[in-house]
Amino acid sequence: MDDLRDKYLTAIADVTDEAGLEALRVQAVGKKGEISLKMRELGKMTPEERQVAGPALNALKNEVNSAIAAKKAALGDAALDERLRAEWLDVTLPGRPRRMGTIHPVSQVMEEVTAIFADMGFAVAEGPQIETDWYNFDALNIPGHHPARAEMDTFYTHRAPGDNRPPHVLRTHTSPVQIRHMEKYGAPCRIIAPGRVYRADYDQTHTPMFNQVEGLALDRDISMANLKWVLEEFFSAYFGEKVKTRFRASHFPFTEPSAEVDIQCSFEGGTVKVGEGDGWLEVLGSGMVHPNVLKAGGIDPAEWQGFAFGMGIDRIAMLKYGIPDLRAFFDSDLRWLRHYGFSALDVPAVHSGV
Ligand code: DAH
Repeated sequence: MDDLRDKYLTAIADVTDEAGLEALRVQAVGKKGEISLKMRELGKMTPEERQVAGPALNALKNEVNSAIAAKKAALGDAALDERLRAEWLDVTLPGRPRRMGTIHPVSQVMEEVTAIFADMGFAVAEGPQIETDWYNFDALNIPGHHPARAEMDTFYTHRAPGDNRPPHVLRTHTSPVQIRHMEKYGAPCRIIAPGRVYRADYDQTHTPMFNQVEGLALDRDISMANLKWVLEEFFSAYFGEKVKTRFRASHFPFTEPSAEVDIQCSFEGGTVKVGEGDGWLEVLGSGMVHPNVLKAGGIDPAEWQGFAFGMGIDRIAMLKYGIPDLRAFFDSDLRWLRHYGFSALDVPAVHSGV
Protein backbone atom coordinates (compact mmCIF):
# COMPACT_ATOMS: atom_id res chain seq x y z
CA MET A 1 0.00 0.00 0.00
CA ASP A 2 2.93 2.26 0.72
CA ASP A 3 4.30 1.41 -2.72
CA LEU A 4 0.96 2.34 -4.29
CA ARG A 5 0.85 5.64 -2.38
CA ASP A 6 4.39 6.54 -3.40
CA LYS A 7 3.78 5.57 -7.00
CA TYR A 8 0.62 7.63 -7.44
CA LEU A 9 1.49 10.63 -5.32
CA THR A 10 4.80 11.00 -7.16
CA ALA A 11 3.14 10.53 -10.54
CA ILE A 12 0.44 13.07 -9.68
CA ALA A 13 3.04 15.57 -8.53
CA ASP A 14 5.02 15.11 -11.76
CA VAL A 15 2.17 15.21 -14.29
CA THR A 16 2.04 18.47 -16.25
CA ASP A 17 -1.31 18.46 -18.06
CA GLU A 18 -4.92 17.61 -17.47
CA ALA A 19 -5.00 14.70 -19.92
CA GLY A 20 -2.11 13.03 -18.11
CA LEU A 21 -3.80 13.61 -14.78
CA GLU A 22 -7.04 12.03 -16.04
CA ALA A 23 -5.10 8.99 -17.27
CA LEU A 24 -3.56 8.61 -13.80
CA ARG A 25 -7.00 8.88 -12.21
CA VAL A 26 -8.34 6.05 -14.38
CA GLN A 27 -5.22 3.99 -13.69
CA ALA A 28 -5.51 4.39 -9.90
CA VAL A 29 -9.14 4.80 -8.90
CA GLY A 30 -11.09 4.21 -12.14
CA LYS A 31 -13.41 1.18 -12.37
CA LYS A 32 -10.51 -1.12 -13.21
CA GLY A 33 -7.89 1.00 -11.45
CA GLU A 34 -5.17 -0.50 -9.36
CA ILE A 35 -6.57 0.76 -6.05
CA SER A 36 -10.15 -0.14 -7.05
CA LEU A 37 -9.06 -3.72 -7.84
CA LYS A 38 -7.32 -3.93 -4.48
CA MET A 39 -10.58 -2.90 -2.81
CA ARG A 40 -12.38 -5.67 -4.63
CA GLU A 41 -9.94 -8.15 -3.10
CA LEU A 42 -11.22 -7.18 0.37
CA GLY A 43 -14.06 -9.70 -0.12
CA LYS A 44 -11.64 -12.57 -0.25
CA MET A 45 -9.93 -11.62 3.01
CA THR A 46 -10.60 -12.89 6.50
CA PRO A 47 -12.63 -10.47 8.63
CA GLU A 48 -9.50 -9.66 10.65
CA GLU A 49 -7.43 -8.89 7.59
CA ARG A 50 -10.31 -6.83 6.19
CA GLN A 51 -10.53 -4.76 9.35
CA VAL A 52 -6.96 -3.59 8.87
CA ALA A 53 -6.84 -3.44 5.06
CA GLY A 54 -10.30 -1.86 4.53
CA PRO A 55 -9.78 1.48 6.31
CA ALA A 56 -6.18 1.69 5.02
CA LEU A 57 -7.32 1.21 1.42
CA ASN A 58 -10.11 3.75 1.87
CA ALA A 59 -7.66 6.24 3.32
CA LEU A 60 -5.34 5.63 0.38
CA LYS A 61 -8.17 6.09 -2.12
CA ASN A 62 -9.18 9.34 -0.43
CA GLU A 63 -5.63 10.56 -0.33
CA VAL A 64 -5.12 9.85 -4.04
CA ASN A 65 -8.47 11.43 -4.93
CA SER A 66 -7.72 14.62 -3.06
CA ALA A 67 -4.21 14.76 -4.54
CA ILE A 68 -5.82 14.52 -7.99
CA ALA A 69 -8.35 17.26 -7.14
CA ALA A 70 -5.63 19.53 -5.79
CA LYS A 71 -3.47 18.94 -8.86
CA LYS A 72 -6.42 19.56 -11.15
CA ALA A 73 -7.05 22.91 -9.49
CA ALA A 74 -3.37 23.79 -9.70
CA LEU A 75 -3.21 22.89 -13.41
CA GLY A 76 -6.36 25.01 -14.04
CA ASP A 77 -4.83 27.98 -12.24
CA ALA A 78 -1.60 27.61 -14.17
CA ALA A 79 -3.50 27.45 -17.48
CA LEU A 80 -5.43 30.59 -16.58
CA ASP A 81 -2.23 32.37 -15.55
CA GLU A 82 -0.65 31.38 -18.84
CA ARG A 83 -3.64 32.69 -20.83
CA LEU A 84 -3.67 35.93 -18.91
CA ARG A 85 0.02 36.35 -19.63
CA ALA A 86 -0.28 35.47 -23.31
CA GLU A 87 -3.36 37.58 -23.96
CA TRP A 88 -2.22 40.56 -21.96
CA LEU A 89 -3.19 43.81 -23.60
CA ASP A 90 -2.42 47.38 -22.60
CA VAL A 91 -5.71 49.11 -23.22
CA THR A 92 -4.16 52.41 -22.20
CA LEU A 93 -1.83 52.49 -25.23
CA PRO A 94 -2.71 55.19 -27.78
CA GLY A 95 -4.45 53.89 -30.95
CA ARG A 96 -2.51 53.42 -34.17
CA PRO A 97 -2.86 56.68 -36.05
CA ARG A 98 -4.87 56.54 -39.29
CA ARG A 99 -4.90 59.46 -41.66
CA MET A 100 -8.35 60.97 -41.99
CA GLY A 101 -9.80 61.82 -45.37
CA THR A 102 -10.58 65.44 -46.19
CA ILE A 103 -13.56 67.33 -47.51
CA HIS A 104 -12.97 68.51 -51.09
CA PRO A 105 -12.83 72.31 -51.42
CA VAL A 106 -15.78 72.22 -53.84
CA SER A 107 -17.91 70.31 -51.33
CA GLN A 108 -16.85 72.70 -48.59
CA VAL A 109 -17.69 75.77 -50.69
CA MET A 110 -21.05 74.27 -51.74
CA GLU A 111 -21.86 73.92 -48.04
CA GLU A 112 -20.73 77.46 -47.30
CA VAL A 113 -22.75 78.90 -50.18
CA THR A 114 -25.81 76.91 -49.16
CA ALA A 115 -25.51 78.04 -45.53
CA ILE A 116 -25.28 81.70 -46.51
CA PHE A 117 -28.24 81.63 -48.92
CA ALA A 118 -30.28 79.53 -46.50
CA ASP A 119 -29.75 82.30 -43.99
CA MET A 120 -31.39 84.67 -46.49
CA GLY A 121 -34.38 82.37 -46.93
CA PHE A 122 -33.29 80.47 -50.06
CA ALA A 123 -34.17 76.77 -50.30
CA VAL A 124 -32.02 74.29 -52.24
CA ALA A 125 -33.41 72.81 -55.49
CA GLU A 126 -31.89 70.09 -57.62
CA GLY A 127 -32.25 68.75 -61.13
CA PRO A 128 -30.81 65.96 -63.28
CA GLN A 129 -27.35 66.23 -64.84
CA ILE A 130 -28.63 64.60 -68.03
CA GLU A 131 -31.25 66.98 -69.39
CA THR A 132 -33.61 67.14 -72.33
CA ASP A 133 -32.64 69.85 -74.77
CA TRP A 134 -35.94 71.51 -73.97
CA TYR A 135 -35.03 72.16 -70.32
CA ASN A 136 -31.42 73.00 -71.09
CA PHE A 137 -32.18 75.32 -74.04
CA ASP A 138 -35.68 75.95 -75.42
CA ALA A 139 -37.41 76.60 -72.10
CA LEU A 140 -34.64 79.07 -71.31
CA ASN A 141 -35.46 81.05 -74.45
CA ILE A 142 -32.56 79.55 -76.43
CA PRO A 143 -34.17 78.24 -79.65
CA GLY A 144 -32.46 75.82 -82.02
CA HIS A 145 -30.81 78.43 -84.20
CA HIS A 146 -29.65 80.62 -81.30
CA PRO A 147 -25.86 81.21 -81.21
CA ALA A 148 -25.82 80.55 -77.43
CA ARG A 149 -26.52 76.91 -78.20
CA ALA A 150 -23.42 76.60 -80.34
CA GLU A 151 -21.34 78.54 -77.82
CA MET A 152 -22.11 76.13 -75.00
CA ASP A 153 -19.84 73.31 -76.31
CA THR A 154 -22.55 70.84 -75.42
CA PHE A 155 -22.03 67.11 -74.84
CA TYR A 156 -24.86 65.21 -76.55
CA THR A 157 -25.95 61.71 -75.64
CA HIS A 158 -26.26 58.98 -78.24
CA ARG A 159 -29.52 58.09 -80.00
CA ALA A 160 -30.11 54.80 -81.78
CA PRO A 161 -29.89 55.09 -85.57
CA GLY A 162 -33.32 56.02 -86.90
CA ASP A 163 -34.42 57.60 -83.59
CA ASN A 164 -35.01 61.19 -84.62
CA ARG A 165 -35.88 62.65 -81.25
CA PRO A 166 -33.45 65.36 -80.18
CA PRO A 167 -30.69 63.80 -78.07
CA HIS A 168 -30.46 64.50 -74.37
CA VAL A 169 -27.56 66.65 -73.25
CA LEU A 170 -25.26 66.82 -70.25
CA ARG A 171 -26.61 70.03 -68.78
CA THR A 172 -24.39 72.94 -69.75
CA HIS A 173 -25.57 75.08 -66.84
CA THR A 174 -27.76 74.86 -63.73
CA SER A 175 -30.38 77.17 -65.29
CA PRO A 176 -32.73 74.29 -66.31
CA VAL A 177 -33.38 73.75 -62.61
CA GLN A 178 -35.20 77.12 -62.69
CA ILE A 179 -37.75 75.70 -65.12
CA ARG A 180 -38.17 72.44 -63.23
CA HIS A 181 -38.73 74.30 -60.00
CA MET A 182 -41.22 76.76 -61.51
CA GLU A 183 -43.21 73.91 -63.07
CA LYS A 184 -43.42 72.08 -59.79
CA TYR A 185 -43.84 74.85 -57.22
CA GLY A 186 -44.89 78.00 -59.09
CA ALA A 187 -44.38 81.49 -57.66
CA PRO A 188 -43.39 83.05 -55.33
CA CYS A 189 -40.10 81.25 -54.81
CA ARG A 190 -36.60 81.74 -53.54
CA ILE A 191 -34.13 78.96 -54.41
CA ILE A 192 -30.53 78.18 -55.18
CA ALA A 193 -29.55 75.15 -57.28
CA PRO A 194 -25.95 74.04 -56.83
CA GLY A 195 -24.59 71.23 -58.99
CA ARG A 196 -22.37 69.82 -61.72
CA VAL A 197 -22.44 71.06 -65.27
CA TYR A 198 -20.58 69.96 -68.42
CA ARG A 199 -18.97 71.61 -71.43
CA ALA A 200 -16.43 70.37 -73.96
CA ASP A 201 -13.66 72.71 -72.91
CA TYR A 202 -10.27 72.15 -71.25
CA ASP A 203 -7.50 74.53 -70.23
CA GLN A 204 -6.18 76.18 -67.05
CA THR A 205 -9.51 77.84 -66.31
CA HIS A 206 -11.90 75.34 -67.95
CA THR A 207 -12.65 71.69 -67.22
CA PRO A 208 -15.24 69.55 -69.03
CA MET A 209 -17.07 69.16 -65.74
CA PHE A 210 -17.42 72.02 -63.30
CA ASN A 211 -19.84 73.37 -60.71
CA GLN A 212 -22.34 76.19 -60.70
CA VAL A 213 -24.89 77.58 -58.33
CA GLU A 214 -28.07 78.98 -59.81
CA GLY A 215 -30.27 81.48 -58.00
CA LEU A 216 -33.94 82.30 -58.61
CA ALA A 217 -36.22 84.64 -56.68
CA LEU A 218 -39.76 85.34 -57.91
CA ASP A 219 -42.44 87.52 -56.41
CA ARG A 220 -44.72 90.37 -57.44
CA ASP A 221 -42.24 93.21 -57.02
CA ILE A 222 -38.71 91.79 -57.06
CA SER A 223 -36.18 94.05 -58.80
CA MET A 224 -32.51 94.35 -59.76
CA ALA A 225 -32.04 96.25 -56.48
CA ASN A 226 -32.95 93.09 -54.57
CA LEU A 227 -30.50 91.15 -56.73
CA LYS A 228 -27.67 93.55 -55.98
CA TRP A 229 -28.36 93.48 -52.24
CA VAL A 230 -28.54 89.68 -52.13
CA LEU A 231 -25.29 89.28 -54.06
CA GLU A 232 -23.36 91.84 -52.00
CA GLU A 233 -24.70 90.25 -48.84
CA PHE A 234 -23.60 86.85 -50.12
CA PHE A 235 -20.09 87.86 -51.17
CA SER A 236 -19.47 89.75 -47.95
CA ALA A 237 -20.50 86.74 -45.85
CA TYR A 238 -18.56 84.36 -48.07
CA PHE A 239 -15.29 86.33 -48.18
CA GLY A 240 -15.67 87.59 -44.63
CA GLU A 241 -15.41 91.28 -45.49
CA LYS A 242 -17.47 93.90 -47.27
CA VAL A 243 -17.28 93.19 -51.02
CA LYS A 244 -18.47 95.70 -53.59
CA THR A 245 -20.07 94.48 -56.81
CA ARG A 246 -20.14 96.05 -60.24
CA PHE A 247 -22.97 95.32 -62.66
CA ARG A 248 -22.10 95.43 -66.35
CA ALA A 249 -24.86 95.35 -68.95
CA SER A 250 -24.71 92.06 -70.80
CA HIS A 251 -26.89 89.65 -72.71
CA PHE A 252 -28.34 86.26 -71.79
CA PRO A 253 -31.32 84.78 -73.63
CA PHE A 254 -33.02 83.91 -70.33
CA THR A 255 -32.87 87.34 -68.68
CA GLU A 256 -33.89 90.86 -69.64
CA PRO A 257 -32.21 93.08 -68.67
CA SER A 258 -29.05 91.06 -68.10
CA ALA A 259 -25.91 91.89 -66.17
CA GLU A 260 -22.54 90.35 -65.62
CA VAL A 261 -21.40 90.90 -62.07
CA ASP A 262 -17.83 91.65 -61.03
CA ILE A 263 -16.48 91.73 -57.50
CA GLN A 264 -13.98 94.22 -56.21
CA CYS A 265 -10.41 92.94 -55.93
CA SER A 266 -6.74 93.79 -56.17
CA PHE A 267 -4.15 92.00 -58.29
CA GLU A 268 -0.77 92.37 -56.63
CA GLY A 269 2.32 90.22 -56.95
CA GLY A 270 0.40 87.67 -58.94
CA THR A 271 -2.24 87.11 -56.25
CA VAL A 272 -5.85 88.16 -56.26
CA LYS A 273 -7.37 89.68 -53.13
CA VAL A 274 -11.11 90.12 -52.95
CA GLY A 275 -12.74 93.09 -51.22
CA GLU A 276 -9.96 95.62 -51.76
CA GLY A 277 -8.25 97.61 -54.52
CA ASP A 278 -9.65 98.98 -57.75
CA GLY A 279 -9.67 95.85 -59.88
CA TRP A 280 -12.73 93.86 -60.86
CA LEU A 281 -13.23 90.16 -61.40
CA GLU A 282 -16.19 88.67 -63.21
CA VAL A 283 -17.91 86.01 -61.10
CA LEU A 284 -21.44 85.54 -62.39
CA GLY A 285 -24.20 86.22 -64.90
CA SER A 286 -27.59 87.48 -63.83
CA GLY A 287 -30.66 89.49 -64.71
CA MET A 288 -34.43 89.75 -64.50
CA VAL A 289 -36.04 86.50 -65.60
CA HIS A 290 -37.25 86.77 -69.22
CA PRO A 291 -41.07 86.59 -69.63
CA ASN A 292 -40.64 83.65 -72.04
CA VAL A 293 -38.79 81.73 -69.34
CA LEU A 294 -41.56 82.37 -66.83
CA LYS A 295 -44.11 81.20 -69.40
CA ALA A 296 -42.08 78.04 -70.09
CA GLY A 297 -42.20 77.36 -66.35
CA GLY A 298 -46.00 77.85 -66.33
CA ILE A 299 -45.87 81.21 -64.55
CA ASP A 300 -47.81 84.31 -65.66
CA PRO A 301 -45.28 87.09 -66.40
CA ALA A 302 -48.04 89.70 -65.97
CA GLU A 303 -48.28 88.73 -62.34
CA TRP A 304 -44.79 87.60 -61.32
CA GLN A 305 -41.26 88.81 -61.87
CA GLY A 306 -37.87 88.18 -60.36
CA PHE A 307 -34.15 87.79 -60.69
CA ALA A 308 -31.91 84.88 -61.54
CA PHE A 309 -28.18 84.38 -61.45
CA GLY A 310 -25.62 81.69 -62.26
CA MET A 311 -22.22 81.57 -60.59
CA GLY A 312 -19.18 79.33 -60.96
CA ILE A 313 -18.53 77.55 -57.67
CA ASP A 314 -15.03 76.42 -58.59
CA ARG A 315 -14.03 79.96 -59.43
CA ILE A 316 -15.13 81.38 -56.07
CA ALA A 317 -13.50 78.41 -54.28
CA MET A 318 -10.20 79.20 -56.05
CA LEU A 319 -10.53 82.84 -55.09
CA LYS A 320 -11.22 82.25 -51.42
CA TYR A 321 -8.66 79.51 -50.83
CA GLY A 322 -5.89 80.68 -53.18
CA ILE A 323 -6.04 77.66 -55.49
CA PRO A 324 -4.26 78.52 -58.77
CA ASP A 325 -5.30 75.78 -61.23
CA LEU A 326 -8.88 74.66 -61.78
CA ARG A 327 -7.86 71.32 -63.29
CA ALA A 328 -6.38 70.14 -59.98
CA PHE A 329 -9.91 70.11 -58.55
CA PHE A 330 -10.69 66.99 -60.54
CA ASP A 331 -7.31 65.20 -60.62
CA SER A 332 -7.90 63.28 -57.34
CA ASP A 333 -4.24 63.81 -56.43
CA LEU A 334 -4.01 62.81 -52.74
CA ARG A 335 -1.26 65.32 -51.99
CA TRP A 336 -3.43 68.11 -53.36
CA LEU A 337 -6.52 66.87 -51.53
CA ARG A 338 -4.62 66.71 -48.23
CA HIS A 339 -3.25 70.19 -48.74
CA TYR A 340 -6.42 71.96 -49.85
CA GLY A 341 -9.02 69.66 -48.25
CA PHE A 342 -10.94 70.48 -45.08
CA SER A 343 -11.39 68.63 -41.84
CA ALA A 344 -14.77 66.96 -41.56
CA LEU A 345 -15.16 68.85 -38.29
CA ASP A 346 -14.87 72.23 -40.02
CA VAL A 347 -18.63 72.62 -40.31
CA PRO A 348 -19.35 75.70 -42.38
CA ALA A 349 -21.57 78.26 -40.75
CA VAL A 350 -22.46 81.77 -41.82
CA HIS A 351 -20.41 83.12 -38.95
CA SER A 352 -17.63 80.48 -38.88
CA GLY A 353 -15.25 82.66 -40.88
CA VAL A 354 -13.77 79.61 -42.60
N1 DAH B 1 -26.47 79.98 -67.30
C1 DAH B 1 -25.44 80.96 -67.47
C2 DAH B 1 -24.13 80.28 -67.83
O1 DAH B 1 -23.96 79.14 -67.52
C3 DAH B 1 -25.24 81.77 -66.24
C4 DAH B 1 -26.42 82.62 -65.94
C5 DAH B 1 -26.52 83.90 -66.44
C6 DAH B 1 -27.45 82.14 -65.17
C7 DAH B 1 -27.60 84.70 -66.14
C8 DAH B 1 -28.56 82.91 -64.88
C9 DAH B 1 -28.61 84.21 -65.39
O2 DAH B 1 -29.57 82.49 -64.14
O3 DAH B 1 -29.69 84.99 -65.08
O4 DAH B 1 -23.27 80.87 -68.38
